[in-house]
Parts: sequence; structure tokens; C-alpha cells
Amino acid sequence: MFQGKGCPGCHGGSGGGGMCPPISNDIWVYGSDDDTLFRLITLDSDGLQKKSFIRIGMENIVGPMPPFGELIKSDEELFELLAYVRTLYRGSPSRVNW
Ligand code: HEC
Repeated sequence: MFQGKGCPGCHGGSGGGGMCPPISNDIWVYGSDDDTLFRLITLDSDGLQKKSFIRIGMENIVGPMPPFGELIKSDEELFELLAYVRTLYRGSPSRVNW
């Protein structure tokens, strides 16, 4: 699903980043909890900021994340995607809050 939705084109095949910030490190732009990432992936960066989320972490590459709400069919699919994103994490275990 991660491949099929085009996530690696921006975040790299193993989530280490590329054109866009890594999703495998322990810097989280808006927060690392499920609720925040659920919203970021479906709404996009602008949508998240409209809901009063602010940048709390700064990655080397800064840009907007596009919305995937239309491409993700169900909450279950989104949680599976998020579960996969969690497996890519290579940051400190002490920063895990999910
Ligand atoms: C067109 C490029 C692009 C695509 C495709 C893309 N992203 Fe992103 N993503 C970004 C950018 C840029 C950010 C940083 C957003 C910001 O700073 O507002 C981001 C942020 C994220 C974050 C939070 C990272 C952090 O450090 O806080 C996650 C998780 C994420 N994306 C997951 C995904 C998933 C899952 C997919 C596929 C469904 C995906 N992205 C597809 C560009 C992309």
C-alpha cells in the first residue's frame, strides 16, 4: 500500500527521505501520535494547520504533504498504512509514544 499510493516517491522506499523529509527518524513535524499522523496523511499540511496544528519539529527539507484522504478507502486502510510507517522508525526507542 505504501508503494501503491506513491509514498516512497517523496519519502524514499525505506522512509529515509529524499525529495521530502524522512519518516523514519525521531523528528516529527507536528507530533508523532496516531491522531496527528492520521490527520496529516488524509488532510495534508495546509488542512492540518487550518485545524490549528503547528510545526513543532523542523526537518532538513520543509514542504507541504499532499492530501491522501481521497485515495485511502477506509479507516482500516489508513491504520494499516500507519502501522507500516511505524515499522520504518529508526529513532530512539525512548521517543516512542504510540
Ligand atoms: C509529494 C510528496 C509526498 C508524498 C507523495 C507523500 N508525502 Fe508524506 N510528507 C511530505 C512532506 C513535504 C512532509 C512534511 C510536511 C510538512 O512539513 O508540513 C510529509 C510528512 C509526512 C509525515 C510526517 C513526517 C514528520 O517528520 O513529521 C508522514 C508520517 C508522512 N508524510 C507519511 C506519508 C505517507 C504514508 C504517504 C503515502 C500515503 C506520504 N507521506 C506521501 C511529502 C509527501
